[in-house]
Amino acid sequence: MLAEQQPLLRTKGLTRRFGGLVAVSDLDLEIRPREILGLIGPNGAGKSTTFNLISGFYKPSAGELFVFGENCTGRSPLAISRLGLVRTFQHGSLMRSMTVGDNILLGTIYGVRGSAQRRARVAETAEMLGLTAYLAEEAGNLPHGLQRLVSIGIAFAARPKLLCLDEPLTGLNQTEVANTLAVLERIRDEFGCSVLLVEHNMKAVMRVCDRIVVLHHGQHLATGTPSEIRADQKVIEAYLGHRHEH
Ligand SMILES: Nc1ncnc2c1ncn2[C@@H]1O[C@H](COP(=O)(O)OP(=O)(O)O)[C@@H](O)[C@H]1O
Ligand SMILES: [Mg+2]
Repeated sequence: MLAEQQPLLRTKGLTRRFGGLVAVSDLDLEIRPREILGLIGPNGAGKSTTFNLISGFYKPSAGELFVFGENCTGRSPLAISRLGLVRTFQHGSLMRSMTVGDNILLGTIYGVRGSAQRRARVAETAEMLGLTAYLAEEAGNLPHGLQRLVSIGIAFAARPKLLCLDEPLTGLNQTEVANTLAVLERIRDEFGCSVLLVEHNMKAVMRVCDRIVVLHHGQHLATGTPSEIRADQKVIEAYLGHRHEH
């Protein structure tokens, strides 16, 4: 099979238990090259657990993880990131007292050799994110929305094949959300990178994702395009039972 046709990432029967609780149950999912895949579901559905399983931060209780067809089950986060999977952390991955430029530079450490090449990578990344004017600023002094972009910049500076983002839009205003979504589209369209987007903001997910996977109580509920998911009766019912969520 050609590399472009095979899924970038595939899980087979992925399961994670915490004591008696099955947080993720028998999950089969596929992330394709050059797609933005949304992972949604009510609170406690297993989204973050799935995210942690995929990035190697949790070991599965059962099931397998394949990256480019290679079985990576049980590998360390670092080993998985070297295959081209990079993630951000929900509560920020940036160093507040360092400049924006030095933060983005951190993301080049494993992937780029030579200081001139690293500087060029930082400049290109900052330009892509609209952060060029802030390169010399202390990251902690920036507005929240720009700090979130810096976190994405650190991850994207490694030029991953798959960028995994856990709720990157939380706390952003409308302009910042639109900005971030445009960045995700550029990441896909100009760099051929796939994005796994775990997100609560349904409107944003529907707008930007190529496909969406819905989890409910740790189980796969539906997979489809935004319009398929919007019309899916099982999905509608799962969300109607959780009106307290946005
Ligand atoms: N480290 C953990 N230890 C024990 N239970 C956990 C842990 N992480 C998640 N859980 C439980 O697993 C379920 C799924 O959680 P999570 O994956 O965080 O859901 P989501 O991100 O969709 O809100 C929840 O019931 C949660 O309490
Ligand atoms: Mg979560």
